[in-house]
Amino acid sequence: MSNRNIIRRVRGLPASDGAGVRLTRIIGQPALDSLDPFLLLDAFGSNQGSDYIAGFPDHPHRGFETVTYMLAGRMRHRDSVGNSGLLTAGGAQWMTAGRGLVHSEMPEQSEGEMRGFQLWVNLPATHKMMPPRYQDIEPERIPVCAPLSGARLRVIAGNVLGAEGPVSGVVTNPLFVDITLDAGSRLSLPVPATHTAFVYPFEGAELAVGSSSLPLGELGVLGEGDSVELSAPLGKVRMILAAAAPLREPVARWGPFVMNTEAEIRQAIDDYRSGRL
Ligand code: CO
Repeated sequence: MSNRNIIRRVRGLPASDGAGVRLTRIIGQPALDSLDPFLLLDAFGSNQGSDYIAGFPDHPHRGFETVTYMLAGRMRHRDSVGNSGLLTAGGAQWMTAGRGLVHSEMPEQSEGEMRGFQLWVNLPATHKMMPPRYQDIEPERIPVCAPLSGARLRVIAGNVLGAEGPVSGVVTNPLFVDITLDAGSRLSLPVPATHTAFVYPFEGAELAVGSSSLPLGELGVLGEGDSVELSAPLGKVRMILAAAAPLREPVARWGPFVMNTEAEIRQAIDDYRSGRL
């Protein structure tokens, strides 16, 4: 086993998206444009309805996958072909946009806490035009694994210490885990050596990766290796650990379309404008 260490640290930027939802953009901003195959990571969280009430009205996607993980609140999802679903606290949605769709993501509440993440994962050229697919995961379907008394893992995608996440059939073979460590606990986890990986502590105290510390709200890109050693030296900490196989393909990106070439982007815009998504 060789432990992965932090090779880069990135703090998110305050941003606004959709019809004016306030969020923190961690991947997909000048300090970290992308982290192949991850294209974007947003953290949203507020107790003020005015920060999120406008939601994300109808918008298209093509060529990648969007992952929504809800920590608090309720969000309604609807698309142009009649699919609808309600995301609740602790639940997730893994949406493969593939060749494209138009959808909305709107809060189903006007006050109280709304908190969660949206991650975009790229698709390889061979899968960019696949039919759209949804995996709506209710909170109860996410296995909880407690490998030691001070550690609690919710496995959304991938296999960790024998717990299999409910998300399946994703081409980049992702790992997406919500980990809580109690003060003083230390956890060693395998992370496939082939994968790009990052960790993001979002609640509690700072995190330690090997012997280096990672402050709350900073994303740590993990270097080479096949495992990671996480610990909570100063107090309880909650984090997201994500890993996926890099694509190493050219990326042409225009807003909600992520393709390989500019011509494919022009085609996507044209398809969208002509109502073909
Ligand atoms: Co969307």
